[in-house]
Amino acid sequence: MTDRELYRIAKDMTLMSYAPFSKFCVGAALECKDGTIYTGCNVENSSLGGTICAERTAMCKAISEGHRDFAKIMIASSGGEAWPCGICRQFMKEFCDDDFIIMTAADEDHIRSYTMAQILPEGFRLNEDLQQI
Ligand code: THU
Repeated sequence: MTDRELYRIAKDMTLMSYAPFSKFCVGAALECKDGTIYTGCNVENSSLGGTICAERTAMCKAISEGHRDFAKIMIASSGGEAWPCGICRQFMKEFCDDDFIIMTAADEDHIRSYTMAQILPEGFRLNEDLQQI
């Protein structure tokens, strides 16, 4: 899938966002290494700390369906570029290699990207063996 197509899917997902508190609607489109796409949106909560970002929604959907090999993620929002928060960077680090690609865009003509290693250098992860449990 092209990055533009991925952006359109992520942008469409902003319509599913539940963001009554911030009014900042976020959508994500996660592409697995086998080409499967999982989508997500942010889901806010009256207890604000309970809010789940679009990226983590997409990843949890994928993981719960048996997918853990991820190639790239596109993030779109109702208000321009949306780079992952610190919690999402750490969450992605758990499952993604250093060359996993994170993209966002203000519109489909201005897609920007970084690798996992770039957005979370020297990130923390326990011994790889533990992930087989
Ligand atoms: N948010 C995301 O879903 N992903 C991001 O990359 C940035 C922030 C959400 C969380 C919250 O619902 C709203 O955007 C404002 O922070």
